[in-house]
Amino acid sequence: MLVTGKEILLDAQKNGYAVGAFNVNNMEIIQAIIEAAEETKSPVILQASQGGIDYAGIEYVAALAKTAAHNASVPVAIHLDHGTDFDQIISCIRNGFSSVMIDASKYPLEENIAVTKEIIKIAHAVEVSVEAELGKIGGTEDHITVEEKDATFTDPQEAKDFVERTGVDSLAIAVGTAHGVYKGIPKIDFDRITEIRNIVDVPLVLHGSSGVDYDSLRKAVSLGICKINIDTDLRASFTKAIHEFIEENPTVIDPRKLLGPARAAMKEVIKEKMEVFGSVGRA
Ligand code: G3H
Ligand code: ZN
Repeated sequence: MLVTGKEILLDAQKNGYAVGAFNVNNMEIIQAIIEAAEETKSPVILQASQGGIDYAGIEYVAALAKTAAHNASVPVAIHLDHGTDFDQIISCIRNGFSSVMIDASKYPLEENIAVTKEIIKIAHAVEVSVEAELGKIGGTEDHITVEEKDATFTDPQEAKDFVERTGVDSLAIAVGTAHGVYKGIPKIDFDRITEIRNIVDVPLVLHGSSGVDYDSLRKAVSLGICKINIDTDLRASFTKAIHEFIEENPTVIDPRKLLGPARAAMKEVIKEKMEVFGSVGRA
C-alpha cells in the first residue's frame, strides 16, 4: 500500500528501526525491492534520483512505482531523491510521489531554509512529505557531486534551528558517509548523530550508506537514524550478476535471461540490508 514518507518514518522512529530507501531506475529493480520487502515483511521506500527520472522518464518511473506500491502487501513510500529542481519536484508530486527530497544543501543556511520552506508549503498542502539536507554529503549521486574538500558535517544546533524554522518531515545529516564507492574505510561520527538526535525531533536520514560496515549501520540505527539510503551496493549486485551470466552464457540473447538473475541477486542484497536496518517484521 502507498503511504507517505512521514508515516513510514514516524513508525520507524517510534519503534527504533530504519526503513531502507533504495534507488530505482527500471522495472526489475522495483520488483527486486518489493519482493524483498514482502518476503521480509519490511516497510520500504522506493526512491528515484534526478538521474533515474531522466533515464526512465517520470511517467514510467511513477507508473511502475505506483503499481508496485498499490499491489504490495507492505507499506511503500515513493520518494524523489536529491531533488534540486523546483519544476521536477512539482512534477513528482503531480505524478503521485508521496514524498520528495529538496536538496538545497549547496546553498548557505538561510537560502537552504528559504528554498526548503517553499517546497514544504506546496508539498504539505497536498499531503506529500519532505526531506531536506543540512551539511554537505561528499561523493557523487547521479547528477550531484560534492568534492571531498567541500563536504561538511551537520552542525547539531543548526539542525535544530533548521527543523524548527522549516517544519521539514525528515532531515538528511552529514556524519561521515559519502555517496558512491568508498576509497577508504568510511567512519561515522556517532557522537554527532547522538548530539543531533538529542535536540532534533524529526526522523534522521543516512545517505551514502553503501559500503558501510553492518556494525556501524546497526549502531547508527540504535542512535536514531530512521531512513538509510542505498544505491551503489544495489547497482553493483545487479551488474555483477549480469557479468557472471554473460561469462557463463555468451551466446544467450534474451534480455530476460540476463535481467532475471540480476533481479534475484539484487533482492538478496536488499533482504540482507533490511535485516541490518531492523525493518524485518515491522510491516
Ligand atoms: O541518495 C542516495 C544515497 O545516499 C545512496 O548512496 O550510492 O552510496 O548507497 P550510495
Ligand atoms: Zn544521497
